[in-house]
Amino acid sequence: MVVIFRQFFDSVSSTYTYLISSGKGREALIIDPVFEKTDQYIKLLNELDLRLIKVIDTHIHADHVSGIAELRNRTKCITIMGEQTPGDIVSMHVKDNERISIEKLNLTALYTPGHTDDSYSFLMNDKVFTGDTLLIKGTGRTDFQNGNPYDQYNSLFERLLKLPDETYIYPAHDYKGESVSTIGEEKKFNPRLQVSSAQEYASIMNNLNLSNPKMMDVALPTNKNQGFTIEKQKKLNGISYNQLKKLSDSDDIVLIDLREFNEIKTKSSLPNSIHIPYSNLQEHLINKKNELKNKKLIFYCAIGERSALAIQISQALQFKKTYHLVGGINNI
Ligand SMILES: [Fe+2]
Repeated sequence: MVVIFRQFFDSVSSTYTYLISSGKGREALIIDPVFEKTDQYIKLLNELDLRLIKVIDTHIHADHVSGIAELRNRTKCITIMGEQTPGDIVSMHVKDNERISIEKLNLTALYTPGHTDDSYSFLMNDKVFTGDTLLIKGTGRTDFQNGNPYDQYNSLFERLLKLPDETYIYPAHDYKGESVSTIGEEKKFNPRLQVSSAQEYASIMNNLNLSNPKMMDVALPTNKNQGFTIEKQKKLNGISYNQLKKLSDSDDIVLIDLREFNEIKTKSSLPNSIHIPYSNLQEHLINKKNELKNKKLIFYCAIGERSALAIQISQALQFKKTYHLVGGINNI
C-alpha cells in the first residue's frame, strides 16, 4: 500500500527522483535527489506534512550533483547508499537483500553492480527503482567508475529480469520522455537485452564510444564529498573512543546507540548502551526531557554522522551536556 508516490524530473541531467510515503503526515523517503531541485522536494514535503526520514542514492552519480547532503542539512535525515560506497559519503550503508524501512513501508536493497561498482536497485512491492542499471529501452553505461559489462549482465539477467514481469521499473534517468516501464516489456523490447550471452552484451557495451557526461568533473568530486568529515564531526562535541570509555565510568552518563536493528545485528552495541534509532531520537528527547536534561548524553552510530547530527538535534532542544563518538563504532 503506497499512498504517496511522486516522480520528479530534472531536465538538465534527465534525472528522475522519487518520493515515497505511506500517507499525509507520515514519514517519507527520497531516492536519487538532484541538488538544484532541493527546494521543490522540501516544498512538497511541507505541503503534504511529510517528515523526510531517509534519502538514498542508487550509486555515485557522475552527471549531476546529488541532493543528499543538502536534504540532510535541511531535514536532518539519514543518507543511505550501499556498502561498496566509501564510508564518508553517507551516514548509513546497506547490504544486498537488506531492508530499508520507514513508517509502514519497506524497500529491499538489491546489489546490481555494472554501471558502477556501487550500484544498487531498490525493490518495493511491485516497483523497482533501478538506478542506472536498467533504463527504459536501455541500460547504464559501464565504461567508468569501475563499471563492468559482465557484472551488469549478471545484475540484469540474474537479478532484475528474474522479478515478476508485472514489476514496474522506475529508472534514475530517461532521455526520450519515457517515465515507467515493466520487467516484461523490457525483456521483450529493450534492444540491449536481446543478447544470448554475457560476451555479446559486453561487446555491445564496450563499443558504445560515449563522451563523458558534461557535469562529470564537477559532479563526481562533489558527490564523493557529501558526508560529514572527521574534522566537522570533531567540532560537534566529538570525542574519541578513549574519552568515551573514561566518561562512561561516571553515573550520570547515558550512552545512546543510534543505529538501526540491522546494523546492530552486524556489530553489537557498546556495553551499557540504550538503543534509540536515530529517526526516533528527536521524539524521544522531547518525551524524556525531564529525565535526561541533567545527564551527560553520549551518542554513537556507525560512522559518526548521525551522532554528529544528534548533537545538533539535542542542542536545539536545549540539552547542554552532549557528546558523540567521532568516526563511529565502525572505526574502533
Ligand atoms: Fe549513473
